[in-house]
Amino acid sequence: MAESTLDLRHEPKDRAYAQLRAHMIGLLAGIDDDIAGMATMSALVHHAFGHLWAGFYRVAGPELLRVGPYQGTVGCLEIVFGRGVCGTAAAERRAIVVQDVSRFPGHITCDARSKSEIVVPVFDRGGSLIAVFDVDSTRRAAFDQQDADGLGQMVRWFAGEGRG
Ligand code: SME
Repeated sequence: MAESTLDLRHEPKDRAYAQLRAHMIGLLAGIDDDIAGMATMSALVHHAFGHLWAGFYRVAGPELLRVGPYQGTVGCLEIVFGRGVCGTAAAERRAIVVQDVSRFPGHITCDARSKSEIVVPVFDRGGSLIAVFDVDSTRRAAFDQQDADGLGQMVRWFAGEGRG
């Protein structure tokens, strides 16, 4: 299944995300399973762009995130809402783009090579927050609004968009 791992580093971001989303929907056709979706999206995003880390922190209790499927070096296991970029995105239910993690108050360092990151919230069909999707890069300012839009579109699979 070599064709299942796209390398989109040389594509403009809007086209890259459109391709990735279509690919994800195709791969997951007939699969109604959030964990399968999280594992597949993590692998697609990680390899398509060569990012340091891409994965999910799931809502595991009141105000608590626990690591879910991811690709990259070992991530920290639990994050309280309001802490770090992931916990802030979960608490505020919005996407956060951080150009320079050293300037984000309370940033949680799992891998010292991480220089910038983006976190988008993940909602289910009923609009409840079920997770956040976190992508980290070794480059400063690797992410922008196009990534927030592209990843935001992809995680709408968990709310039922494009899900068979
Ligand atoms: N950087 C994140 C923590 C998770 S790891 O980077 C995988 C944060 O501050 O939320």
